[in-house]
Amino acid sequence: MDLYEYQAKDLFAAHGVPVLPGRTVETAQDAAEVAAELGTAVVVKAQVKTGGRGKAGGVKLAENADEARGKAEAILGLDIKGHIVHRVLVTTASDIAEEYYFSFLLDRSNRTFLAMASAEGGVEIEQLAVERPDALARIPIDAIAGVDKAKAAEIVAAGRFPAEVADEAADVIVKLWETFVAEDATLVEVNPLVRDPQDRVIALDGKVTLDENAGFRHPEHAALVDERTENPLEAKAKAKGLNYVKLDDGQVGIIGNGAGLVMSTLDVVAYAGEKHGGVKPANFLDIGGGASAQVMADGLDVILGDLDVKSVFVNVFGGITACDAVADGIVEALAILGEGATKPLVVRLDGNNVEEGRRILDAANHPLVTQVDTMDNAADRAAELAAVSSQGA
Ligand SMILES: Nc1ncnc2c1ncn2[C@@H]1O[C@H](COP(=O)(O)OP(=O)(O)OP(=O)(O)O)[C@@H](O)[C@H]1O
Ligand SMILES: [Mg+2]
Repeated sequence: MDLYEYQAKDLFAAHGVPVLPGRTVETAQDAAEVAAELGTAVVVKAQVKTGGRGKAGGVKLAENADEARGKAEAILGLDIKGHIVHRVLVTTASDIAEEYYFSFLLDRSNRTFLAMASAEGGVEIEQLAVERPDALARIPIDAIAGVDKAKAAEIVAAGRFPAEVADEAADVIVKLWETFVAEDATLVEVNPLVRDPQDRVIALDGKVTLDENAGFRHPEHAALVDERTENPLEAKAKAKGLNYVKLDDGQVGIIGNGAGLVMSTLDVVAYAGEKHGGVKPANFLDIGGGASAQVMADGLDVILGDLDVKSVFVNVFGGITACDAVADGIVEALAILGEGATKPLVVRLDGNNVEEGRRILDAANHPLVTQVDTMDNAADRAAELAAVSSQGA
């Protein structure tokens, strides 16, 4: 789960990382009031979960409360890369002597944690990483040893932070590591980490991704979820305990049993879709073992609720759950959904008790259901049906 800047900075503050005072508001009037309370020049910052806010006009300086109202008015409602700004952070403006870049992240390809640091931080960091990669230091972190003051000093030196701030920057980095570990984050990024004219080191921005697999250790993280930006289909699937991920630009709904089978189903549908005008899979949905009528109905209900979906591919390999049970599940699910089932279903059954499963579906003779024996042919049929219905629509 990605956090908003203000949430990231709340976590930083809780772990002793220096941040500036501020508050989030949803109206221009409230922005003016916060600025008046702070009694300083402020920065009004769009709270959206995407990068490049400053360049998109989502970060503005205001000298006083009146200006803060005007800047908030300009930022609220802004569309930044498809994210509408509902909330702004009003925070003390800092005098900035220098801007640094710092992050901890999970480096999956090297199976380790990684610190990245650069004395040349700020809004051009992506460009720096491409054009002068050696200006961005990458320091592997041993998960067991972690980051103590000595390791932090090594990171500071590798990032070529100036000597005047080296000690304080190292302290901040130790606290950021504490945040990373204690909160079970997979990313903690500060850009910019600034040096002010008094040589204090402050986190002016914050980006944090929490590892949802560790959510059971953090009941308090539930409060960080923003219902407003959650995908409604994913929220519905989560409420029903389904492993569902919505994919962009897809038209073929996918249901399968087992994550591996579903992953390869996405591949074969994308491949088959190329012949049908670039049709793509619309989601990942693993109904797991069981595959009871209710789970099948819940899965179909979520997928049919996706307006992008034009056809559905149910791909099941019977193992412990035999194909006849799955076929019964599909028939019952369609009965549960009734009029709610509106799109063609291509079903491929194989494995344990496949003959009986196919016989059950044949006997039910549901007008929306087509059976196809192989995965490739079924993918092709589902893609074709999606393409035909997209043209019709
Ligand atoms: N409190 C502040 N005081 C002074 N300047 C600030 C403050 N917050 C941000 N800035 C300036 O605005 C720039 C952009 O701010 P910030 O890093 O928060 O957003 P961004 O980098 O554009 O967004 P993102 O991190 O989402 O890409 C900073 O590099 C800094 O120069
Ligand atoms: Mg930034």
